Amino acid sequence: MFYCVGNWKLNKTPQEATNFIEILLKEAAPAELENLVLLPPALCAAAVASAAKNGLRWGGQNCYFENSGAFTGENSAKTFKALGGQFCLAGHSERRLLFVEPDEMIGKKVAAIQQADLIPILCVGETLDDRKWRRTNEVIGRQLKMGVAVADKSKPLWVAYEPVWAIGTGEIATPDLVQEAHSFLREQLFSIFGVQKGAEIPLLYGGSVKSDTSPPLRALNNVNGFLIGGASLDPLEFLKIYRAKR
Ligand code: PGA
Repeated sequence: MFYCVGNWKLNKTPQEATNFIEILLKEAAPAELENLVLLPPALCAAAVASAAKNGLRWGGQNCYFENSGAFTGENSAKTFKALGGQFCLAGHSERRLLFVEPDEMIGKKVAAIQQADLIPILCVGETLDDRKWRRTNEVIGRQLKMGVAVADKSKPLWVAYEPVWAIGTGEIATPDLVQEAHSFLREQLFSIFGVQKGAEIPLLYGGSVKSDTSPPLRALNNVNGFLIGGASLDPLEFLKIYRAKR
């Protein structure tokens, strides 16, 4: 199984989201749609929910860890679920860096997403400084451990490795670096979840994935899918990435 998850970030109106899905449904076979996930901005969720069919799944880009209360401006995992969503991201580097979300909060979000019966996609990734100072494993190991600290270990989880220096920069990570990080993360998953469950958790790569540069990464062991930002905004390019083999 290979998955492509499109993180639209703060892009598209409800009408644009509907148009995207109409094109995707026309171009992709149901067996392909089952492996595609769209993450629209929250205000487009209802439009995506009514347009998505034939196995195409969707989710939120972020949620708060409480389901209701005095939390102005927040969205809950429960509401994404009520709208028909199946996933929610937690700990995307833009949330960590621009919105200053700490590891503990991201851990609570992962647990809240699971409690709502959605699948959390926990993002981890090092900055350029972390890599220069050779603390990549220390950073992504900590983000993973704290991200699942209060999670229900029996419930589904996906993990995305997204080096911060590769996001939106056009600089995709090399196969060697991705291989190294994904092997490390897989070992960590084995030790946290046990070998059987640890092997089942999809590990996605994200950071400047495009159809022409992604095939060497897709061929790697332990790369079970891509988390795609900019290149997921065009339905044909998104599908091309899913179809691009080495
Ligand atoms: P990018 O974003 O594909 O535009 O680099 C990836 C992400 O932030 O998930």
